[in-house]
Amino acid sequence: MAARLFIPGPSDVDDTVLRELARPQLGHRTQEFRELFASLRPGLRKLFSTGNDVLISTSSGSGLWEAAIRSCVKSKVLHAVNGAFSKKWASLSKNCAKDMAALSFQDGKPVNPQAVDKALSERDYEAFCVVHNETSTGVISDLGALSQVMKKHPDVLFFVDAVSSLGGVKIEVDGLGIDICLASSQKALALPAGIALASISRRSYLKAEAVEGRGYYFDLLELKKAYDKDETPYTPSIPHLYALRKQLDRMEAEGLEFRYKRHEEMASWVRAWAKEQGFPMFSQEGCHSPTVSCISNTKGIDFAAVKKALAGRGITVDTGYRKLNEKLAAEEKPTTFRIAHMGERTPDEIRSYLAELQKQFQVKP
Ligand SMILES: Cc1ncc(COP(=O)(O)O)c(C=O)c1O
Repeated sequence: MAARLFIPGPSDVDDTVLRELARPQLGHRTQEFRELFASLRPGLRKLFSTGNDVLISTSSGSGLWEAAIRSCVKSKVLHAVNGAFSKKWASLSKNCAKDMAALSFQDGKPVNPQAVDKALSERDYEAFCVVHNETSTGVISDLGALSQVMKKHPDVLFFVDAVSSLGGVKIEVDGLGIDICLASSQKALALPAGIALASISRRSYLKAEAVEGRGYYFDLLELKKAYDKDETPYTPSIPHLYALRKQLDRMEAEGLEFRYKRHEEMASWVRAWAKEQGFPMFSQEGCHSPTVSCISNTKGIDFAAVKKALAGRGITVDTGYRKLNEKLAAEEKPTTFRIAHMGERTPDEIRSYLAELQKQFQVKP
C-alpha cells in the first residue's frame, strides 16, 4: 500500500481490506448475513473493552451523535466544547430541540474534569457529552479523570465521541463506565467511510424507552431490536461489514496493545520533530493526541504550496482545520497544521513524511 494520506481521516485502507468490498452482494435477511454480523461481535467487544452491544450504523459518526441525543435525551444535556467537533455535536443537540448547555474550553485545551463536576452539580442533566480526541486541535482529554467525575453523578449518562481515537488509543468502555462510545470507520480504524460503531449500555436503552420522537433510522431501540437477531433494521452496507471483519482480524493479528504503542511512537516522533524544527505544539502540554498532532505554524510556512507540491507525488498534506486557522489568522496568531498518524501509518512512513515536509520547507518560492 502506497503511503498517501497524512490527513486526520479518511485514512488509507489496506489493500486486503479494500478487496473485501468487492465481494458479491448478499441478502440481508439470510442466514449467511446473520453469521457475518454475529462474527463481528467478539472483535468489536474486544476493541471497545466492553460486554455491551456494539451497534453498527450505516452512516458516518455524525449519525451516531444524533442517535445518542435523539434516543436518550428528553431535554437537558451538557456538552463539553473544546474544539470544532465538540461544538458541532453541541449544536446538533440544539437542532434536535434539546435544552443544550455548553461548557467551553479554549481551543488547544483539554476538557477540565473539575469544571465538568461543577457544571453537573449545578443542574440536573440527563447526559454529558465529550469528544475524547478533538481532531481539530490534536487534543486528547483524560477519560479516566472524567469517569471519576461521572461516578459522582450516577444519574447522568456518559457519552463519548471516540471518532478519531478508537483503534489508535485504548478505551476501556466498561472500566470507564461509558454509556455510549461512538466512532467512525474512516480514522484510526482505517476502514472506508460509511459505517459508524457505538457501544451502548443497558441503561441507555432503558432511558431511550422513556424518550419520545426518537425517529427511526437513528433510533437505538430499533437498532437493538434488529441487533438481537443479528440483523439491522434497514439494508446495511454489507461491503463495509466484510471489510470490518477483515480489519478486526488484522487488528487482532497486530495485537491491540502493539497497535496503541505504534500510535504513541508515531506521535512522539512527530512531536520530537516539531520541537527540533522549532514549531510549538498547538495542543496543551500533556494532552497531545496519539493519532493527530496539531502544530503551530510559527514560521509562516506556505502550507498551501507544500500541499500542492506533495499532491503531485501522491502525498496528501493537511493544512490545518480551516475554521480554526481563520479564527487564529483574524486574531493575528500563527495558524496551525496537522499531521495525522493513525490507522495503517507506520513510524517509518511518518519519518519519511517528515523528511519530505522538511525538504519542502527549504524550497524558496
Ligand atoms: C472528533 C470527531 N467527531 C466527529 C466527527 C464527524 O465524523 P463523521 O465525519 O464520521 O460524521 C469527526 C470528523 O472528522 C471528528 O473528528
